[in-house]
Amino acid sequence: MTLKRVHIKGGNTVIARRLLAIGEHQPRRPTESKLVGRTWELTTVGGILDEAIAGSGCIVNIVGPAGIGKSRLVRETAALADGRGVPVFSTYCESHASDIPFHVVARMLRAPIGIDELDADSARTQLREWFPGADPEDLLLLGDLLGIRDPAVPLPDIAPDARRRRLTALVNASAMERPDAAVYVIEDAHWIDEISESMLAEFLAVVPQIPSLVLITYRPEYQGALSRMPGAQTIALRPLSDGHTLALTAELVGAGSATGELAAQIADRAAGNPFFVEEIVRDLAERGVLQGQPGAYQPRGDVGDVDVPATLQATIGARIDRLRAPAKRTLNAAAVIGTRFDADMLAALVSNVDVAPLIEAELVGQVRFAPNAEYAFRHPLIRTVAYESQLKSVRAHSHRRLAAAIEVHGSTDENAALIAEHLEAAGDLHAAFDWHMRAGTWSAFRDMRAAQTSWRRARRVADRLPHDDPDSLTTRIAPRTLLCAHAYRLGGSGADTGFEELRELCAAAGDRQSLAIGMSGLVTSQTMKAHRREASQLASELVQLLEAIGDPTLTVALSFSAMISKHETGEMADVLRFAQLVIDLAEGDPAKGRLITESPLTVATAKRGLARWCLGIAGWKDDFEQAITTARALLTDPGTLAGVMWFTYVYAIPYGVLLPGAAALRDTAEALSMAERSGDDLALDLARGIHGLALAYQEGPVRERGFELLAKMRDRAANDRMSLTTVPIADIHTAREKARTGDIGGSIELARTVVDDLLNSGGCIWTALAISVLVEALLQRGDDGDLDEAASAIDQLAAVPTDPGFVLNEISLLRLRALLAHARGEEAAYRDHRDRYRAMATSLGFEGHIKWAAASREEVRTCGATSRLSGRGRIRLAALPVR
Ligand SMILES: Nc1ncnc2c1ncn2[C@@H]1O[C@H](COP(=O)(O)OP(=O)(O)OP(=O)(O)O)[C@@H](O)[C@H]1O
Ligand SMILES: [Mg+2]
Repeated sequence: MTLKRVHIKGGNTVIARRLLAIGEHQPRRPTESKLVGRTWELTTVGGILDEAIAGSGCIVNIVGPAGIGKSRLVRETAALADGRGVPVFSTYCESHASDIPFHVVARMLRAPIGIDELDADSARTQLREWFPGADPEDLLLLGDLLGIRDPAVPLPDIAPDARRRRLTALVNASAMERPDAAVYVIEDAHWIDEISESMLAEFLAVVPQIPSLVLITYRPEYQGALSRMPGAQTIALRPLSDGHTLALTAELVGAGSATGELAAQIADRAAGNPFFVEEIVRDLAERGVLQGQPGAYQPRGDVGDVDVPATLQATIGARIDRLRAPAKRTLNAAAVIGTRFDADMLAALVSNVDVAPLIEAELVGQVRFAPNAEYAFRHPLIRTVAYESQLKSVRAHSHRRLAAAIEVHGSTDENAALIAEHLEAAGDLHAAFDWHMRAGTWSAFRDMRAAQTSWRRARRVADRLPHDDPDSLTTRIAPRTLLCAHAYRLGGSGADTGFEELRELCAAAGDRQSLAIGMSGLVTSQTMKAHRREASQLASELVQLLEAIGDPTLTVALSFSAMISKHETGEMADVLRFAQLVIDLAEGDPAKGRLITESPLTVATAKRGLARWCLGIAGWKDDFEQAITTARALLTDPGTLAGVMWFTYVYAIPYGVLLPGAAALRDTAEALSMAERSGDDLALDLARGIHGLALAYQEGPVRERGFELLAKMRDRAANDRMSLTTVPIADIHTAREKARTGDIGGSIELARTVVDDLLNSGGCIWTALAISVLVEALLQRGDDGDLDEAASAIDQLAAVPTDPGFVLNEISLLRLRALLAHARGEEAAYRDHRDRYRAMATSLGFEGHIKWAAASREEVRTCGATSRLSGRGRIRLAALPVR
């Protein structure tokens, strides 16, 4: 390995591995042949490299089947980069690690930062120097990702999504600042773990703006995110031409009439795959069919009917078979460890480690000499064949010993997923289950998707246990419970929550707690997907179940989901009942039942306030005040804080209950900044929604920012199919803004769509607002048919079934009827509705409505004095009490 000192900002130097680093995990053969063909490909990548060095970075995908020459093209490019003094940093993915989260991304970052060769202490120092001025909390998160965190320093309480956002911002900002060109390589992306894949995709987004070339190799079956990076170039490697294959064969075998026929036979069998050519030649040499030195072989006897293995795999298999027992055992053990392995690990698995013959046969190569010898397979396919061709029982034994060795050597929680994989491969199902669950717990703080992967693996292992195993039911229930409970945090279609299975298993085990936990997650995810009817039914079932279980803490913890489902459908009597139940059972303890939210009591208080005003019951204002005060003083979880603010402001402001004053702006801004720093994406959506909404009700430039925030919330909800219930909120406000800014047609069209969706969706609290916006816009336009359409929209709202005393709809209806009468010039009806509207607003203490009612009185006075209400009922927008 050649080493090069690279100057980095701040006057430090780090040792960057040059050129040969590229082959570090896949050392080139000492007898590597000259490159044949690939002129166009190399010229193309070379050209792109030059552009990258000049500042226009680029991603180049190199695609093709095993052995076709992807890594070789990377090596050739690395040589070009080396010639231009540009460092190359490389990482690789491995088949057995595709479920190990963060594996690849951590390795990818370690090399350029220059911490690969450092102990954890020095690595942390290096990290601080590499990211001067970075927020120490961000560095802690990065240190955790890179596996160099000081275990004595606790991790800050930051949601996984926020970690991701902050790490991306940190890494990308730093990449943008660095002027030095570099080449980054990600090899064998078809084996990348899901988390690394999505993080790298975010990191690579800045590539076009930095002087860097990124080479990503993968086999054709891979179609993941890294193969679809915007602006990437793709080079698909075809088989070598007949001429090139023959040239390669001739070089490896030796040109000459004696070998000519054999060379043709080899080239024919290899079908343009250079690796196949190499392996056939080696196989023939080992069998003695070819004698002499590489590149100058002579055939032994007649080669007319020489048997050449049919496939590349078979050729490799035949070569492995020929090894003597200790070497073969060593190779097999190495295949269990991975692409790269060291002497200690080998010794933990086999007694007589014998690496020399493997190096001699060019199956593996040494990549490090001190302090501990390290080796690597020369090609991933050799490892695959070695892995698959050994006896299962032997392999299982190696996996078991390896799991034990990793547990002894490494940091166990970080390696939990890896240990679990090995134990699973060893067939130790109970132990594998425990480690998968442990990995899930570790990941739940770092990446929800990774946690879900671990729980799914645990579920699979549990399902493999014999049914008469005493742990069968409990192990099958536990991961399913967690998968259902957290399903809503991932969005997506989420079709497979496995809830019905959980229900059956819980029935068989008599485990009602787990069922309730899983059900509560499902209620939340159904609500978020806007499956309002299903969610509402399930919520009723959940509360019955909780009442039957009779565990106060569990009820306090889980009623949250039932409430969000019921308020979405406007079933406020239920919300009030559930909120009161939680408040009573919490007995004043804000932390009781903190499982899903940080403070169920505070959330329930805000919810009760919401239910109370919707039903016209006094006390809502006190509830809101109490909830907000406690939230601001106590809560550290951005999701819970955003939840409390949401229930307080998001309904009350548009529905004219609270005015969007200074307190609302301050509270919602606080919630947003906390969510940005440490909240998960859902908390961020909510926080954007609340603050956006508060701003959208202001005048001046901040209003625009409000709509931007609402649009962000909406986009994410729609794209990730996350909190779809937020979509109508954004749409209704957008429709109203369109009318306000003159696009009345667009406003009416959008409002109609929202109204239709909501009326068809099994009841929704937003129906009244959507109909209000539609009616306002129709009245504002006042074309033929508009007033009739407005009248029928009002009738539709009146026909929506509600709980008794649901004043939210009643007061909206009074106001709309007043507006319609006003527009139609029906003065008596107008006055009647207006007066009742005003009286109701005043008696309920709804600040917004009181203001709007006053505005309408002013307006009528003006209208009456100046223009009289015309028969067409066309009235000016400014006069409408729309807000
Ligand atoms: N054009 C070429 N000329 C000469 N040798 C080549 C050529 N292409 C590839 N080889 C040799 O063939 C072998 C296999 O190539 P390589 O390792 O690049 O395959 P790969 O496409 O990366 O396969 P995998 O998907 O399994 O990683 C290597 O030893 C390489 O040096
Ligand atoms: Mg390769």
